[in-house]
Amino acid sequence: MSKHNVHILAIESSCDETSASVLVDGIIRSNIIYTQTIHEKYGGVVPESASRLHIKHILPVVEEAIQQSGIARTDFNAIAYTQSPGLIGSLLVGSSFAKSFAQALDIPTIAVNHMQAHVLSNLIEDTRPEFPFLCLTVSGGHTQIVKCLSPLNLEIIGETIDDAAGEAFDKSAKMLGLPYPGGPLIDKYAKEGNPNAFKFAEPNMPELNFSFSGLKTSILYFLQKEKIKDPEFITKNLHDLCASIQATIIKVLMKKLVKATKETNIKTVCIAGGVSANSGLREAIRAYAERYHWKYHIPKFEYCTDNAAMIAITAYYKYLAGETTELSTTASARSIQ
Ligand code: KG4
Ligand code: ZN
Repeated sequence: MSKHNVHILAIESSCDETSASVLVDGIIRSNIIYTQTIHEKYGGVVPESASRLHIKHILPVVEEAIQQSGIARTDFNAIAYTQSPGLIGSLLVGSSFAKSFAQALDIPTIAVNHMQAHVLSNLIEDTRPEFPFLCLTVSGGHTQIVKCLSPLNLEIIGETIDDAAGEAFDKSAKMLGLPYPGGPLIDKYAKEGNPNAFKFAEPNMPELNFSFSGLKTSILYFLQKEKIKDPEFITKNLHDLCASIQATIIKVLMKKLVKATKETNIKTVCIAGGVSANSGLREAIRAYAERYHWKYHIPKFEYCTDNAAMIAITAYYKYLAGETTELSTTASARSIQ
């Protein structure tokens, strides 16, 4: 298919962000993100509330994305949506909306995998990495090292066997009494702390896999012990605790990324997913790149956490490869006798 005159509307609703984006010929024209904050008080995403809020916000978010793009809806060639993984109710809101809209416009839909989209968020900007590259995808639900040979040829070569890196951040934050999602707060307080103040367990998994549940237990026992000695321990040491926890998570991630570059002999690395917004991880990628002579790419902040621009860029490559789904406008009814 021609690379020109491709107009795609993309929708992301897999968790607690309602997002819509418009792409024209591989360039993002708009990327509107509404983040649900109601979950803060529950210490995690409440699936039922998340789907209700998606229903409430999807229309205004899509309208704003279209308006900001300056593209007429009759010019769209396809509507893309996140198919999986994600919360089933939240996914249903985005996919139903996309399918209905596509049917009304009589254009195809493009179903996109959320994790593939995180990886391809590295292809949104002009300064994109060259293939082949390795992507460390670190989000609230996944931790993967992905070997990327082309936009549609991705292979997971390592992943977590238990908690994701984002979960490690969020659960540690919860133990420190910080609200959900704690990752960004740990990042913030870590800037004022000493990363070597405390030592926590660093799991050593075989091959390119990760494990973060041992780290969580190690932090839990450490805090319990210290709080008996001094009930104010966390408050007094919050910055050092955040810095030490963050440094441990980053060390575990970087160790496997180095191993992956050696095993694959691929020296271009990228990061993706919510945790790639972490300033310590971004700095570590820069420092390791210098030390190991890697080329690297770090996505802009707005493309790290969940967003529809990454769905749009993935859909663009799928559209060019003819991977679209036609929706039949004529319902087939069979009589029951
Ligand atoms: O990719 P994402 O937005 O949603 C999922 O697909 O899961 O990732 C959300 C995760 C959360 O665990 C959040 O705490 C984490 O990304 N996160 C961060 C930072 N910003 C978001 N973790 C550490 N430092 C940050 N600055
Ligand atoms: Zn995500």
